[in-house]
Amino acid sequence: MTAHKAGLMAHPARKLSGTLRVPGDKSISHRSLMFSAMAVGESRVEGLLESEDVLATANAMRAFGATIDKDGDNIWHIHGVGLGSFLEPEEIIDYGNAGTGVRLALGLAAHGDFVTRFTGDASLCSRPMGRVLDPLRLMGLEVLESNDDRLPLAVRGPARPAPMRYETPVPSAQVKSAVLLAGLNAPGETTVVEKVFTRDHTEKMLVGFGADLTVDTASDGTRTIVLKGQPEFKPQSIIVPGDPSSAGFPMVAALIVPDSDVTIQGALMNESRTGLIKTLLEMGADITIQNERESGGEAIADLHVKSSELKGVTVPEARAASMIDEYPVLAVAAAFAAGDTHMEGLAELRVKECDRLSATAFGLKANGVTCVEGKDTLTVTGGVVPGGGTVPTHMDHRIAMAFLVMGLGSQKGVAVDDAGHIATSFPTFTTFMAELGAEITPFDADAMAS
Ligand code: S3P
Repeated sequence: MTAHKAGLMAHPARKLSGTLRVPGDKSISHRSLMFSAMAVGESRVEGLLESEDVLATANAMRAFGATIDKDGDNIWHIHGVGLGSFLEPEEIIDYGNAGTGVRLALGLAAHGDFVTRFTGDASLCSRPMGRVLDPLRLMGLEVLESNDDRLPLAVRGPARPAPMRYETPVPSAQVKSAVLLAGLNAPGETTVVEKVFTRDHTEKMLVGFGADLTVDTASDGTRTIVLKGQPEFKPQSIIVPGDPSSAGFPMVAALIVPDSDVTIQGALMNESRTGLIKTLLEMGADITIQNERESGGEAIADLHVKSSELKGVTVPEARAASMIDEYPVLAVAAAFAAGDTHMEGLAELRVKECDRLSATAFGLKANGVTCVEGKDTLTVTGGVVPGGGTVPTHMDHRIAMAFLVMGLGSQKGVAVDDAGHIATSFPTFTTFMAELGAEITPFDADAMAS
């Protein structure tokens, strides 16, 4: 028996309006729980993203010995066990769909001489883990069981990880972070060199928790991150800013639906995450960045977005890391823009929750949009979007949300075959969009196919 898929259909919208706050940032939420689990004493986290991916990290940290609860005011309290004091998990840690969660947790599994087993859903089990296992093996992690360096995995940590210098071969904050997290419990200095600036939440938050970490940026942009191992980790009080990746969906929806006027409050404005805003502004988007302020050591702002006549642009490879999760929704914006939008440096999209480059191209074509998919490029020819297609989401939350957004601006609406995975990052997506005036209704893809 095959599981019934939860399809959704987004109908053409007349206008979107309102002022809303997007849920907490996924990257910072994962790290808040993990880092708090390593501090002795109680940390508190406000605004945690309560999505499936993040709740999987809460369970993983409980398996390592942390106590984690939420109070009546939605504040999360984490009683950490201390750095180097993780317990051997008694059960297999099921990370569901969460690539960031499991890759960072593999760095933590290197903290002691014990066995940790990880598994996940079909999407996660197909994703490459060698990119983190390779450096972690050099630090002493032993891979006992794996499916060609994919999940399900059983690993044994060394008694103490060996510090090392590692140059990341792919632009990936997950790889950088896994090495740094293993290095936390190594005697001596762990150095990570990255040629491309990827999101720096790990660096910033480790310093906040008391680690001795320095970053040197060379004139060509290469960053050398040096972490002194075995710091004294102190519990923290964290306020999680709004997720700019989630904000991208209502932002693009407001741009492509006529007469829209939407304000998204409290979005994280860390420069390693603002590539989509920069690109949309170049395309002629009417986005005003308002009320810029600081919260918990991060820049945040409100984004006031009005419907806009967009034009096609070239998005350079150098910008890819700062908007790596935003290409599906950028492609949707591009479908409504005058002329061609050409995106370069997209190789990493092929190893996300699905092959996002081909899933995006397929969804565009299924809805009457002309595009050309290259090995690591995508060119979208914009104009009027007919819609009327059904998009396979391949267990990928961002493919689902991007094409539902497309439906709102299209002539006939757009359906997605399975929207269940939206709960991994933005569980309130449909009610959020409904509050702005969007009509998104259940859609039975199985019935349509039979
Ligand atoms: C993330 C890093 C990115 C991003 C993911 C979150 C993180 O992955 O796609 O959604 O929190 O470190 P890569 O580091 O593999 O590019």
